[in-house]
Amino acid sequence: MRYAAITGWGMAVPERVLTNADLEKMVDTNDEWIVSRTGIRERRIVGPNDSTTSLSVAAATQALERSGISAEELDLIVVATCTPISSHVSQACLVQAELGGKAAALTLARRAPGSSTLLDRVTVHSGRNVRARARDRRRHADAFRRLPDRSTCILFGDGAGAVVLEATDEPRGTLSTVLGAHGEGYKHLYIPGWGAFVPESAGIFPEYRPFLQMNGREVFRFAVTAMGDAAVEAVERAGLQFGDIDMLIPHQANLRIIDAAARRLDLSMDKVWVNLDKYGNTSAASIPIALCEAEAAGKVKDDDNLVFVAFGGGLAWAASVIRWGGIKKAPEHRSPNGVTVEQPIATAIGAE
Ligand code: UT7
Repeated sequence: MRYAAITGWGMAVPERVLTNADLEKMVDTNDEWIVSRTGIRERRIVGPNDSTTSLSVAAATQALERSGISAEELDLIVVATCTPISSHVSQACLVQAELGGKAAALTLARRAPGSSTLLDRVTVHSGRNVRARARDRRRHADAFRRLPDRSTCILFGDGAGAVVLEATDEPRGTLSTVLGAHGEGYKHLYIPGWGAFVPESAGIFPEYRPFLQMNGREVFRFAVTAMGDAAVEAVERAGLQFGDIDMLIPHQANLRIIDAAARRLDLSMDKVWVNLDKYGNTSAASIPIALCEAEAAGKVKDDDNLVFVAFGGGLAWAASVIRWGGIKKAPEHRSPNGVTVEQPIATAIGAE
């Protein structure tokens, strides 16, 4: 069996901060409501020079530096995003154009469950990979934050996260993945006037509303069940017990949903990484950003078993169990005369 170990990780968020107090001036809402219903206190919003591409490239560059791999060595770049810059160019190609190299480039039209979907696909590939995900405000992300709609504009933030995956025979990285979807539920979280849902030729342009439409209560109900079930199943598939789990790194959508998932795994909140208070829901970027911060805080150590779990538009869910820590690398070393030699070295890449 081959595994996909995480050997590099990185994140990028825009500088601009939008607090709940700022939102109070824009829509009929208040800090107390937002914090008590979601746990979110502020979020980052892209500026005029940020885009899905720029944030993704910044996060991926950081991840590559950590892993010691160059862009030229990558086999595959996967970008999971719901805010691609172009509908005709794969967002992953745009990222590759900036990073360099000739890796295959694949874009997943995935919201929050993008992280674990990617881990599942890459485990099958057992290749090397970097992924990046982000949101882009300038052209599309406004659709997620339609300011007159107080029920959605408070939730989302911008950011990108990336990991480098490397194939290994050691039981590191992805020990299990669970993916699923409830297609009929798409109508609870989608943009009616985006893509081909509402063609202009239908003659309904005045009602054209390319904004996120969300049935919050339905999504909430779905999320509580789906996140809990997926997390439990991922742990079982990995052949582990709840007591073996060291840290839950969940999609950062709502503190109450995270709390419910933690309870299903019998985990106390000190074993759950939460940063939605600072970033809100960054969709597919939320788990890798949380992973970066948990690692930086020393909460993720070699040999720890981590659970990633997410839900999102689709409606879909995904979970993975990850064994943290570096793999032993046997990189190729070039001798002065240009001949490639094998020089096995033991490197704990997870411990910086
Ligand atoms: O990646 C997936 C993204 N989506 C999600 O994660 C959404 C999941 N759902 C949720 O997180 C919650 O359903 C929300 C946070 C969106 C809403 O919380 P809720 O407890 O389900 O509130 P609600 O929709 O039942 O609304 C309760 C009340 C309503 O007023 P009335 O009808 O009781 O008078 C809303 O109009 O709160 C009102 N309300 C607000 N009040 C102040 C809705 N949005 C706001 C707001 N500020 N921003």
